Amino acid sequence: SPSDPDLVERARAAKAKLGDKVFVLGHHYQRDEVIQFADVTGDSFKLARDAAARPEAEYIVFCGVHFMAESADILTGDDQKVVLPDLAAGCSMADMATAEQVAECWDVLTEAGIADTTVPVSYMNSSADIKAFTGKHGGTICTSSNARRALDWAFEQGEKVLFLPDQHLGRNTAVRDMGMSLDDCVVYNPHKPNGGLTVEELRAAKMILWRGHCSVHGRFSLESVREVRERVPGVNVLVHPECRHEVVAAADYVGSTEYIIKTLEAAPAGSKWAIGTELNLVRRLANRFADEGKEIVFLDRTVCFCSTMNRIDLPHLVWALESLAEGNLVNRIQVDRETEDFAKLALERMLALP
Ligand code: 13P
Ligand code: SF4
Repeated sequence: SPSDPDLVERARAAKAKLGDKVFVLGHHYQRDEVIQFADVTGDSFKLARDAAARPEAEYIVFCGVHFMAESADILTGDDQKVVLPDLAAGCSMADMATAEQVAECWDVLTEAGIADTTVPVSYMNSSADIKAFTGKHGGTICTSSNARRALDWAFEQGEKVLFLPDQHLGRNTAVRDMGMSLDDCVVYNPHKPNGGLTVEELRAAKMILWRGHCSVHGRFSLESVREVRERVPGVNVLVHPECRHEVVAAADYVGSTEYIIKTLEAAPAGSKWAIGTELNLVRRLANRFADEGKEIVFLDRTVCFCSTMNRIDLPHLVWALESLAEGNLVNRIQVDRETEDFAKLALERMLALP
């Protein structure tokens, strides 16, 4: 939808008034009306690095979700303030692993005698508490663009990986990219005693996958792939690795949002693409590449936006920028010191991956 011209003008004026004091980051899944004000756009890996590379900006306005703003706070200096324009912009996947549940899981692994040889690898899409747990236990963070490298590193440190909280990214990386079998993976269900697993199952597994998933990507199905291949003959199916394993197995290309964009940039004119990721990004790419004769469709027309990403809209952004311009620090995301130190350890291990 076209943005309200009055709000556009106000956002521009507030940003101009703040000048170099503010730096606006926009995740690829954000609305067009918000993305137009981003100083940089990117996937969660790129944005984490970009936030850390702006020490001169007093305010980092993060147009994305809560765990991304937390990561930005962890990676930036103490005098830099990270602002999330709507505090209700969370992530249902990140909420699927709480600190208490993960501590309980570690006790289960300890009881089974495997905690010493298990390395936690946590997806960026997790709370600062989970990142701190990961750092404390010798593990690393990963994103969808470096999950393979993170797992390679983890298997040099230990024999098993506890992968949090996205079972699909964990399974897809292990099976599709690293040649493990589905039998090497077990799913730990935090709502069942002992994760719903026997000691033998835990000891035999290489990958212990947390039972979490993305509520958007988890909705694409094998049927979505079949349907689009019928509807658009010759189509290339390109999906995000948060999709279920059978969807990834049936797709032609798999990768993070940055990978999806680069693949489409390199695609020849006349090619056809069905994309399985968030709708704001797919629509933007469809518009952008239409002139070059690349046909881009959404993998499944019944799947909709990420509702929490969409909470950041132009009115919230204007409110945050105007408040900052008037000297009111609103919606600051600040991780406590102890959590920050351990979480930073895990994030820095990721940034140091080859
Ligand atoms: P990436 O930005 O790493 O591709 O992750 C997608 C996502 O779901 C972010 O919430
Ligand atoms: Fe979370 Fe999925 Fe939304 Fe990303 S797209 S913020 S993983 S619910």
